Amino acid sequence: MREAKKVLYAAIAVTCSWALCGTSAFAEERSLYERLGGVGAIQAVVTKFISNVGADSRINGYFKNADLKQLNKHLVNQVCQATGGPCTYEGRDMKTAHKGMKVTTAAFNALVEDLVAALDTFNVPEKEKGELLAILGPMKSDIVEVP
Ligand code: HEM
Repeated sequence: MREAKKVLYAAIAVTCSWALCGTSAFAEERSLYERLGGVGAIQAVVTKFISNVGADSRINGYFKNADLKQLNKHLVNQVCQATGGPCTYEGRDMKTAHKGMKVTTAAFNALVEDLVAALDTFNVPEKEKGELLAILGPMKSDIVEVP
């Protein structure tokens, strides 16, 4: 009888922990990478972002000699890694990569606008958008040379 009770309690414990895994308390622990939709979703946003930048006369001059294919790859890996995904960013650090470009604060803000527009194209929710911008925001001081 005692054994039967033990088995019953164990079964309840296991069932409860499975049930709880499906609740939002645990859903919050998913990485930003997962909540964005993984590498495919990040790739779609980055491609749209680069296209927005190319069409943005405020800043597209900075990119006239850029290797857009490489930039696309680096950005996907950078965002994937920074949001907790399984990628490795292999580009240069932000200070070295933007050295001598004389990026202004206005140019930085314009680029962020183009990124937000890309995120909005894919209906990325406010929460995830805010979290991604909070990760990229602190890079500003390494990128802007002309405040
Ligand atoms: C948070 C904002 C930004 C991020 C995360 C970012 C990220 C990157 C990355 C990952 C690279 C590639 C590095 C490498 O090749 O090793 C890069 C290159 C570059 N970035 Fe940025 N960047 C940002 C802001 C800006 C701004 C504001 C501008 C100019 C308006 C800019 C212009 C460029 C250019 C021209 C390149 C070089 C591309 C090439 O030579 O092929 N970036 N950036």
